[in-house]
Amino acid sequence: MIPQPLRIALVDPNDQSRESIRLLLDGMSDSWLESDCTRYEWFVSLVEQSKPDIAFINLDSNLERSLLVIEKVTRESPDTAILAASEKTDGKLILQVIRAGACEYLTLPIKTEELSAAIHRVRRHRPSKSLEKPRECEVITIAGANGGVGSTSVAVNLGCVLAENPLNSVALLELDMALGDADVFLDLIPEYTLADVVQNVSRLDMQLLRKSMTKHGTGLFMLPRPVDLMETELISEDSLRRVIDLMKESFTHLIIDLSKSYNGLDKVAMESANRILLLTQLDLPCLRNAVRMLINFDESDHIKDKVAIVVNRAGFEAGQIGLKKAKETLNRDIYFQIPNDFRTMVDVRNNGVPLVLQSPKAAITHSFRRLADELSRSKDGPTIAPIEEDATLKGWKKFWPGVQH
Ligand SMILES: Nc1ncnc2c1ncn2[C@@H]1O[C@H](COP(=O)(O)OP(=O)(O)OP(=O)(O)O)[C@@H](O)[C@H]1O
Ligand SMILES: [Mg+2]
Repeated sequence: MIPQPLRIALVDPNDQSRESIRLLLDGMSDSWLESDCTRYEWFVSLVEQSKPDIAFINLDSNLERSLLVIEKVTRESPDTAILAASEKTDGKLILQVIRAGACEYLTLPIKTEELSAAIHRVRRHRPSKSLEKPRECEVITIAGANGGVGSTSVAVNLGCVLAENPLNSVALLELDMALGDADVFLDLIPEYTLADVVQNVSRLDMQLLRKSMTKHGTGLFMLPRPVDLMETELISEDSLRRVIDLMKESFTHLIIDLSKSYNGLDKVAMESANRILLLTQLDLPCLRNAVRMLINFDESDHIKDKVAIVVNRAGFEAGQIGLKKAKETLNRDIYFQIPNDFRTMVDVRNNGVPLVLQSPKAAITHSFRRLADELSRSKDGPTIAPIEEDATLKGWKKFWPGVQH
């Protein structure tokens, strides 16, 4: 059995050295950098909550503070091994660091072999730790009730908001095989796609999966749809299930931007999800589709109780259908509303910069933060009223042209 890679959390306030340590850690085959942190004062709680196998601490930005961090991590997270690193080679300092609780002292710049040997020693001393699962993954699928309803905007921006929290590791999987454009929203040119990953599915492990994904500056990892349209045929339901299962092992959150064709692959994703956000706008075509989708979702025991209605572009125009009418028609509560902000959203898309970076203080960005909070607060889901068939059909029929009502 291939041992699972050790999970590493890094703290280094210096951008330059953090980047070079990050690159070095990214190249390790038996470990992965799960989170990197820029502030010593955040690191202790990050380690406490995310429970990495290794805490990697660069001492050089503030020796005093980093020694305190080592002591606190040793006390509060005794299962995490501490690797301390510094450019200094002073014997007294090394002794101080080891006495504070670090198990290794590495001199910067580190050679790959030295780092690899240190990680190997950690693994040898903590064989059982590497098999522990860190945190239950929250899988959120974004199901749009119509083309252009805002699914990709929500998937990308919710993902980036979640990734803002250093305790989260967040992935975005794109299932809109033909026209998916999440890479444009993030201004990324991914090296690998879902098609590459499924072609290697038999030897796929967490490490290979992580390396096949592209990391955005916000910390969000993404796996896009295939480039070649024909490659979509390579993706079977089983292979997708395996990829999702592995993603669940490696991330705390997985956001899936579904296609609008609601095919077998989308169904696999919805069945694997904890939550399905059914995104609608308050207009007739969207609401009509939403009702139709709810009826279909209701037929699957693996899907029906996970659906939450999210209204996008609330307040868009005076002629919108009212919330009360929408609720009656859907026979559900509205779980969340995202306001309309056309100008900001156009900038976000055209610049390929997500809301958290483009407009961190905008009302719409706060709305995404609130949605993320709401999702983590109501993890097991609010009780959503089930559809009563008569009422739904009544509502649904209202939107079908030619149907008597
Ligand atoms: N809350 C919002 N306020 C204003 N404009 C928005 C909002 N959300 C999305 N938009 C805009 O709506 C358009 C469509 O968004 P997006 O591409 O995310 O939709 P989609 O459902 O993924 O589309 P597709 O069906 O093509 O995949 C974009 O121009 C986007 O900027
Ligand atoms: Mg889209």
